[in-house]
Amino acid sequence: MKTTSDLKEKILELKKRKNAVILAHYYQEEAIQEIADFVGDSLELSRKASQVDADIIVFAGVYFMAETAKIVNPNKKVIVPDVKAGCSLADGCPPDEFKNFLEKYPNHTVVTYINCTAEVKTFTDIVCTSSNAKKVIASIPEDQPIVFAPDKNLGKYLIAETGRDMVLWEGSCIVHEAFSLEKLIDLYKKHPTANIIAHPESETHILKVAHYIGSTSGMLNHVKNSPNDTFIVATEAGILHQMQLNNPTKTLIPAPSKEDNTCACSECAFMKVNTLEKLYQCLQDESPEVHLDNEIIEKALLPIQRMLALN
Ligand code: 13P
Ligand code: SF4
Repeated sequence: MKTTSDLKEKILELKKRKNAVILAHYYQEEAIQEIADFVGDSLELSRKASQVDADIIVFAGVYFMAETAKIVNPNKKVIVPDVKAGCSLADGCPPDEFKNFLEKYPNHTVVTYINCTAEVKTFTDIVCTSSNAKKVIASIPEDQPIVFAPDKNLGKYLIAETGRDMVLWEGSCIVHEAFSLEKLIDLYKKHPTANIIAHPESETHILKVAHYIGSTSGMLNHVKNSPNDTFIVATEAGILHQMQLNNPTKTLIPAPSKEDNTCACSECAFMKVNTLEKLYQCLQDESPEVHLDNEIIEKALLPIQRMLALN
């Protein structure tokens, strides 16, 4: 059995020998974030992936993020610690069903949240992430009807923020839907000076009581720049690692989940299937590798490029 520091050392040695870089999302376990060359939100990770020069990208996040890395940098070998790192949003929008759904809305501009499969991106006009969704919607002419998929909670938030009418796909994130409003209010009563911050994948009633709504990077910046010293954080618990490192004197309290009695926080089981051991093994084997048809890569690249060109 290798210790964490043995694994870290071996990963660093392999990474150098194989000319690889490790990109990780903020929801990854601490040890993975610590060994990564770059940690970011989904927008920053897709931008970073497009700029990688190394031969191999080890993508420690969920599968749609690794697919995006392959789409934006198709000549690189993209490998993942575990192919089972899915996402309830991507899984809840099967390409065939989505294609049929779109047939009902022929003149609509199709905006998809980056949390969807590469194939769904091929039916998309422009992709967005939680950090640029408002900007993406604003880039579409006012009189143009919009289909937004797959996250209905982010969609409802965008309708409220932009005043645009959008047809929504009925998808949701199982992690962000797990927050309990009742428990959140009870917690806030115990910390009345706290700032409630939430990811826009959360349900409308949670967003209504939030003082700040933003992507994972948005929340990190907000906590850093805010004069407040206590925050209730309604997103996946992995973000607390980076947030606490950046703000050692601030108090960070995970928002409580509806059903969890043992742990107050929400964890994404998909993100957490990746472990340091699996990361080491995938770098050693250069597998599992992300493979996509060239046709899918070409078609899915366009809506991603349109998004990246906006920022
Ligand atoms: P970010 O765009 O904030 O990284 O969010 C990705 C995600 O999967 C949130 O659940
Ligand atoms: Fe998908 Fe939700 Fe996990 Fe993000 S937290 S990867 S949206 S299941």
